[in-house]
Amino acid sequence: DLKGFIFDLDGVITGTAKFHGQAWHQLADELGVTWTESLANGLKGVSRMDSLEMILKAGGKENDYTEAEKVAYATKKNDNYLKLISNMTPADVFPGVKEFLDDLLAKGYVISLASASKNAPTILKHIGLSDYFTKIVDPATLSKGKPDPEIYTRGAEILNLPPEACAGVEDAAAGVAAINGAHETSIGIGDANELSAADIIFSETSALTLANIEAQMAK
Ligand code: G6P
Ligand code: MG
Repeated sequence: DLKGFIFDLDGVITGTAKFHGQAWHQLADELGVTWTESLANGLKGVSRMDSLEMILKAGGKENDYTEAEKVAYATKKNDNYLKLISNMTPADVFPGVKEFLDDLLAKGYVISLASASKNAPTILKHIGLSDYFTKIVDPATLSKGKPDPEIYTRGAEILNLPPEACAGVEDAAAGVAAINGAHETSIGIGDANELSAADIIFSETSALTLANIEAQMAK
């Protein structure tokens, strides 16, 4: 039986996936790399430096820059991203998410956060959910990012639960792969084709309820 839920942040709890996409798109334009939907989807859930590498690779430019130049580009993207998130408020929590978290906690489930974003604590503060997530995997301590399972394995460890007792909630294919690799139940939020590897898929967060999850798991 499930006892814990491990949440991704960007694109699951709030709409920051869109802002990451906008900021990377802007940088890709500057680098002369063609922005495509498949590149945009492939970047979801992927760490900052790995994302930059994927963009450079998509443009055949992976050998064109020094490490220092890459760090400068990643910093520039992040500065743009920080501007995009600066006006976020509790009204930006996706529909049904707060209700789902309240229901989980009221029923004795435990929750943790498995976001690759170093900005996650800042965003939680903006949207008023810092008190909900006292257990956060620090992405700076990971040896590998999503799709590697490490972040979701750690998300269960900090809950003191075996992976089988945990479900992970993700909007990205890389994140679903990480959950599956950690042997947890994967819940995808978004497009069923993009997230076809997930155990359970909901098109929107408003469908994220224990009743709906139980109904899907019974199938
Ligand atoms: C999340 C997002 C990615 C982002 C990554 C790193 O996983 O889905 O789009 O690249 O975090 O975020 P950061 O805020 O540290 O650059
Ligand atoms: Mg995400």
